[in-house]
Amino acid sequence: MAKYTIPENIKNEELKRWVTDMAELCEPDNVYLCDGSQEEYDRLCQEMVDAGTFIKLNPEKRPNSFLARSHPSDVARVEDRTYICSLSKGDAGPTNNWMAPKEMKAILTPKFRGSMRGRTMYVIPFCMGPLGSPISQFGVQLSDSPYVVVNMRIMTRMGQKALDALGDGEFVHCLHSVGMPLTQGQADVPWPCSPDPKDKYIVHFPEERSIISYGSGYGGNALLGKKCLALRIASTLGREQGWLAEHMLIVGVKAPDGHKDYVCAAFPSACGKTNFAMLIPPKEFRDEGWEVTTVGDDIAWIKPDEHGKLHAINPEAGFFGVAPGTNYATNPNAMDSIKENTIFTNVALTDDGDVWWEGMDGEPPAHAIDWQGNDWTPSSEKPAAHPNARFTAPITQCPVVDERFDDPNGVPVSAFIFGGRRNSVVPLIQQSFNWAFGVYMAATMGSEMTAAAFGNIGEVRRDPFAMLPFAGYHMGDYFSHWLDLGRNIPEPPRIFSVNWFRKDENGKFLWPGFGENMRILKWVVERARGKSKGFETPLGWMPRYDDMDWRGLDFSREQWDAVMKLDRDMWIKEISTHDDLFFKLYDRLPKEMTFIRELLVSNLWRSPELGLAAPRPEEEDIKAVAKGE
Ligand code: OXD
Ligand code: MN
Repeated sequence: MAKYTIPENIKNEELKRWVTDMAELCEPDNVYLCDGSQEEYDRLCQEMVDAGTFIKLNPEKRPNSFLARSHPSDVARVEDRTYICSLSKGDAGPTNNWMAPKEMKAILTPKFRGSMRGRTMYVIPFCMGPLGSPISQFGVQLSDSPYVVVNMRIMTRMGQKALDALGDGEFVHCLHSVGMPLTQGQADVPWPCSPDPKDKYIVHFPEERSIISYGSGYGGNALLGKKCLALRIASTLGREQGWLAEHMLIVGVKAPDGHKDYVCAAFPSACGKTNFAMLIPPKEFRDEGWEVTTVGDDIAWIKPDEHGKLHAINPEAGFFGVAPGTNYATNPNAMDSIKENTIFTNVALTDDGDVWWEGMDGEPPAHAIDWQGNDWTPSSEKPAAHPNARFTAPITQCPVVDERFDDPNGVPVSAFIFGGRRNSVVPLIQQSFNWAFGVYMAATMGSEMTAAAFGNIGEVRRDPFAMLPFAGYHMGDYFSHWLDLGRNIPEPPRIFSVNWFRKDENGKFLWPGFGENMRILKWVVERARGKSKGFETPLGWMPRYDDMDWRGLDFSREQWDAVMKLDRDMWIKEISTHDDLFFKLYDRLPKEMTFIRELLVSNLWRSPELGLAAPRPEEEDIKAVAKGE
């Protein structure tokens, strides 16, 4: 007789086989199929309260919400333990960790043998993207973590409805264990994981379309629908099938004439994507009828429709946002999204049973319990919340969720924005001459190092398309895929680059950011519609001071010139450092990148004077030049 009773609702033959095999390998006490119901969610949350994993927050302050504190070793994604195990090393490329699939499985299989002893194996069927969308993908995660189950219920379309929609179809196999079996009645701990940082594995097998994650219970390491499926595996699927899986937010921008444009924007992690995705336009714009709505804050899947028009969906159903720094001034919509039904991880607990983090509105509490469970007061040396503390909340709780966020057809894309975090050199806003220049700009985006984690402070870390940790294949092939896609659609969206983070010589930000970014967004969407004006520079197109809408903001021409300045010498240096990345990708770098680099350098040398004071040809002349290219 089979040792495990496989839940009878599992009809998909491959799922049945896989669950049986994995149960035999991992030896859980039982196998449980998640139905995704509210009743199930409430029950699991209560079980976690009883086990000490969750603390129920004061229902008057934060209805139906919980706080979890992770093990101190398990607080963030672990890029150095993340692998792309494609058959050939070349296909993973130099920006990913690689190991041969066979070799990796020889390490992982013994780790999973008996890894779920004393625990339940949860079978979590989920759909990334709206149910019924031709752009969506199914996954099934097997996990021994109830924390994962309840988070997946918020972050994905999860449970019986996903299983029904999957039918006999294919799904991405996602196997996860926290890596702490309970042998012979051993007591559990509130946050089980494998505490040795070298004993965590986040592994992707692109050819098999499968993911194996071991040793971590946290965020992007454990909620496998997010970075693992929706970016690393999906990027390889998209390449094969002619679509894009991108680290991008999606916003709707409605103009006073009622026309709505959707814009996808890529920023590296921790550059304020959630804030931009929920931007509140300045009063003057709102009064006139401008509205910004949120389709997604982290990931976009983008596919051409039958006419070649790009349509985007947000594959997720919730926010897994960074809590510290979020407040009613920086992001009131995020604050309103997490008023209830929210899971908080690694934030502080106040004496009245609510949550707190650094940068929240108002005075810090006189006393709190920090993310590690210790007493905390404002004079404590350590922060109360971990800097990467998170909230998990349903997107439907966002006051400005877009009416089409669940539309199976996705939303039409008018423009792409790429933004790095650069103290200098890169101007506030520019538009690339065409798709290929845009790909170059996105390929060379980067951020100055703010902590020594990845290199020397001040050095630029290139983060092409904000996908460095998330591309599931060779970055050179990824650039080629973008170039090919643009060639094969009749009217590709316009591509823009932004830099909110430019500073003056005293280290002060030159641009106020937040809601004022609406001014940039307005120029972008109007430009995409051929309405707003700009002028040509050696690097692309830029708005003049007078092309911008300044109502309600005191921002002088001099300030504008400073935030938009192009310095030729600095740009020549900047372009020469692009080679560091290009040389790394040399054997698969599309030739266009080298040609565009040469063109940009020669444009810079040919332009005798840079800066906005220089006389500029009129837009009409430039259009003619652009067409002649
Ligand atoms: C995220 C990230 O958590 O990009 O979204 O790291
Ligand atoms: Mn992200």
